[in-house]
Amino acid sequence: MDRGHTGLLPRTPRLEDESYLAFMESYRNHAIRGMFPHIAQLAGAAEASGGSADEQAYVRTWKRMMRSQQQLTWQKLQDSFHADAAHYEAELKAAEVARPGRLHYDPAFVTPKYASLDIHLQPGGYVGDPLAGYVFHHGTKVFYQGENDQDQLHQQVVDFVRAPEDGKVQRVLDLGCSIGQCTTALKQRFPDAEVTGLDVGLPMVRYAHKRAVDLGIDVHFRQGLAEDTQLPSGQYDVILAYILFHEVPERLFRTIIGEVHRLLRPGGTFTVVDAPNDTALGAGNRLWLKFDARYNCEPYSPAFVASDLAGMLEAAGLRVASRGPTPTFLSCTTAVKDARGG
Ligand SMILES: C[S@@+](CC[C@H](N)C(=O)[O-])C[C@H]1O[C@@H](n2cnc3c(N)ncnc32)[C@H](O)[C@@H]1O
Repeated sequence: MDRGHTGLLPRTPRLEDESYLAFMESYRNHAIRGMFPHIAQLAGAAEASGGSADEQAYVRTWKRMMRSQQQLTWQKLQDSFHADAAHYEAELKAAEVARPGRLHYDPAFVTPKYASLDIHLQPGGYVGDPLAGYVFHHGTKVFYQGENDQDQLHQQVVDFVRAPEDGKVQRVLDLGCSIGQCTTALKQRFPDAEVTGLDVGLPMVRYAHKRAVDLGIDVHFRQGLAEDTQLPSGQYDVILAYILFHEVPERLFRTIIGEVHRLLRPGGTFTVVDAPNDTALGAGNRLWLKFDARYNCEPYSPAFVASDLAGMLEAAGLRVASRGPTPTFLSCTTAVKDARGG
């Protein structure tokens, strides 16, 4: 069961899981690197002649492969971790009181319905499976095709975080932190700050806390809502939302941004790394986005891609300081709360 770690990545319960996941990783790699360039060509050609490539045989095969890859990966991981569920539950329970960081959750917390979907087809999503953190960690290893085994991509995201101009960073908040890979990287970037990760999923923050304890990194985790964090006003110097927005309903975009404005001190910064706005997307990526929304349980994402993030930030009193692509497909927007606190 406890088969140790490879660097930051814990090993799976059984050796056979690793070979299964390695196969899944190359299967996904083939679908994305091998097949997708052709899909993009088909989508572009179809659009240019006023049609759609959606129903073409090659595209349908690709969609089936992408969906099956997700389903098979989650299924394998869930079966494997749940075969020893008592062991993993005990591990999470023991970590709850372990230090350096603290874990905060309220047993009376009510998860909103919108956050209870099987996002990315993970059964139970972020909230419904007590072992979802373990499953997510290994499932996203496959998702990132082995390029994030040592949190490299999370570190890259954290490098994009805008620091306040006066250089003062006492409190940092990672909104929608999942299993805390940016949260721990934020602590490494701002070692003197108090760093907190917040997520609606209790299984996520329980695993995030256990993981940070194992790594000996002093960060805190809370179950909570980005739109109503229950955290104090004007206390945060730096806030990050990495791929949170495209997973919340459109009606919450402005509420979350308003909450960020409330939490930031004057001069504090907000960094959003997420899907690019649709004007930056080619025909192939638009096809992928539609596939994700419909077949990969990402129902909120198209509304975010179509939204005016910069306009919403400015309307809330957050001055947009920079916008641009990241080395991955995502886009990074940074904003600053007016130094007069407006
Ligand atoms: C794609 S994951 C984010 C990944 C994460 N930031 C990372 O570093 O890998 C989206 C996360 O947002 C969380 N989430 C969704 N809606 C939320 C909300 N309203 N408030 C807080 N967290 C939310 C989900 O539980 C999930 O863990």
